[in-house]
Amino acid sequence: MNTTAQRQYGDGDASFQAAGGELGIRRLVDAFFDRMSMDSRYATIYAMHPADKLTSRDKLCRFLCGWLGGPKRYQEKYGPINIPAAHQHLSITTTERDQWLSCMAETIAEQSFHAEFKHYLLVQLAVPADAIRRRCAHNLSS
Ligand code: HEM
Repeated sequence: MNTTAQRQYGDGDASFQAAGGELGIRRLVDAFFDRMSMDSRYATIYAMHPADKLTSRDKLCRFLCGWLGGPKRYQEKYGPINIPAAHQHLSITTTERDQWLSCMAETIAEQSFHAEFKHYLLVQLAVPADAIRRRCAHNLSS
């Protein structure tokens, strides 16, 4: 059942392992950025990233490592991070949020993850994605 699986994935490094460790996360992030760069539906969010997309890939990869319960690779290299604050200079509305989540959903679907983990991962990613949207909306209105 989902509830059992969700408790299990949130426990320790279970999610990190289910994603295939650092190699699996690297594959996911590379495929995510490849898709974002090639699909015109994601041109807006792709263009929002700085020119150095290798660093963007490295940052997301390292962040997801720790976020999924694995080693805290982002902090090791780049220091502390607050995800909504790291996006607050951007214009992220429901449109950009949904583009990011769709691009991620399509990428996750192609990975060799367990079906339950695919579902779990998307549900979890929607949480920071919406926190980002709310932070950006607050900045726009202030
Ligand atoms: C809501 C949709 C999202 C959009 C449109 C988006 C877009 C972006 C963009 C354009 C950047 C580059 C910012 C810059 O360097 O100026 C970025 C950075 C980053 N994003 Fe997102 N993002 C989204 C959601 C997420 C989520 C859900 C996560 C994590 C689960 C995430 C993790 C990161 C990380 C770790 C960085 C690097 C931050 C830094 O080191 O400054 N993003 N994102």
